[in-house]
Amino acid sequence: MIRGIKGVKDILPDEVGRWQLIEAEARRLAEVYGFREIRVPVFETTELFARSIGASTDIVEKEMYTFQDRDGSSLTLRPEATAGAVRAYIEHNLSASPTAQKLYYFGPMFRHERPQAGRLRQFHQFGVEAFGCTEPAADIEVIALLWRFFSALGLPDLTLEINSLGEAGDRPAYKTVLLEFLKKREEALCQNCRRRMATNPLRVLDCKVPECRAATEGAPKLTDHLSASARGHFDAVLAGLKALAIPFMLNPRLVRGLDYYTLTTFEVTCSHLGAQNAVGAGGRYDGLVETLGGPKTPAVGFAVGLERMVLALPSAALPTPSKLVYVASFGLQGLSTGHRILYDLRALGIQSDTDYRASTLRAHLKQADRLGAALTVIVGDDEVAKGLTIVRDMTSKEQVEFPLASAAKSILTLLNTA
Ligand code: HAM
Repeated sequence: MIRGIKGVKDILPDEVGRWQLIEAEARRLAEVYGFREIRVPVFETTELFARSIGASTDIVEKEMYTFQDRDGSSLTLRPEATAGAVRAYIEHNLSASPTAQKLYYFGPMFRHERPQAGRLRQFHQFGVEAFGCTEPAADIEVIALLWRFFSALGLPDLTLEINSLGEAGDRPAYKTVLLEFLKKREEALCQNCRRRMATNPLRVLDCKVPECRAATEGAPKLTDHLSASARGHFDAVLAGLKALAIPFMLNPRLVRGLDYYTLTTFEVTCSHLGAQNAVGAGGRYDGLVETLGGPKTPAVGFAVGLERMVLALPSAALPTPSKLVYVASFGLQGLSTGHRILYDLRALGIQSDTDYRASTLRAHLKQADRLGAALTVIVGDDEVAKGLTIVRDMTSKEQVEFPLASAAKSILTLLNTA
């Protein structure tokens, strides 16, 4: 037997209701906030991700699904979609538009991580990217959208953590100060962090190993080394969140695992999720469009991990399923009449079904029960001869008769008045 791949999950019909609810709400809110959908490819050139996410990040160093195309070029399954959205933005000259480009997307992402609850190798994101505005109001808008999305679906116990990574020019001076601090504590750091000191020292602050956490407890904060304009931007974002009554927590360690960020970074965690508790995260990336060959363009966005949202979604958020009408038809005349009724019910948009294998009323009623039908339409040869059909309420067991000719319409009225 061939099995699915480790860390790559099927989403079965019983779980799909949660996905559909989350996706519908994400789409609705993104549109309400003026974002438009973009669909970017699942694979791109490897260079796109190396240049945008950063060659020395965990994602690029060890988590990408990279393969050689038949012509020898190196391709990669997208580990995230910001890079692809930026590539598309540049390639299709979206910057030429006089309006800010606000894009949203859904889709699978691929990272070769160690699978555990809430961490997969193929996972799904809903994300938004807003291009063109340097104003703090753009940061506030995407955070407000993220927060409203989680609130609308009733996600419990969320914390919004926020930080500023400063402008690109603020980083070198801070890195020197941070490295000085880290060098004095190198012995206490994990192997990975010692390596990061050379490649990406900021990431040491983000390490989850308790010894590293303790060793970096009093580390200098990047927010204490911001330029005046970066400080002003951050303060404006925080003031904006306060004005909207969106609660947040400052987290000077929040450096994120992707290199393209500048200024604002944020992450929303849900305390019900265990170790993999980040449900959504993002930030500003004012240099990325230029890095990838486009015109200088500020941008800010986020992505939400849909598997984690599905895990955190309270059951009460799920809508009651629509009522199913089951058609129990049998006998020569009954069968064809039943098929006609089914056709008419569906034309009226009524969720309706039958089981073509059942040939007796008893067998049909059993299937109707198993499917959780609200009503069963009974039509055998006798009913056809009388020109009527019997409709049985599956809960109360009460039965009513309707003329065959207008059966579907009568059932619609019955459903609407019940
Ligand atoms: P990220 O933090 O790498 O950011 O991912 C965003 C979210 O995707 C995470 O908070 C988490 O919920 C989910 N996620 C990440 N990896 C996994 C995994 N292996 N299994 C399940 N869920 C996962 C980005 O991807 C950026 N592109 C976000 C962004 C958009 N920044 C600006 N614009």
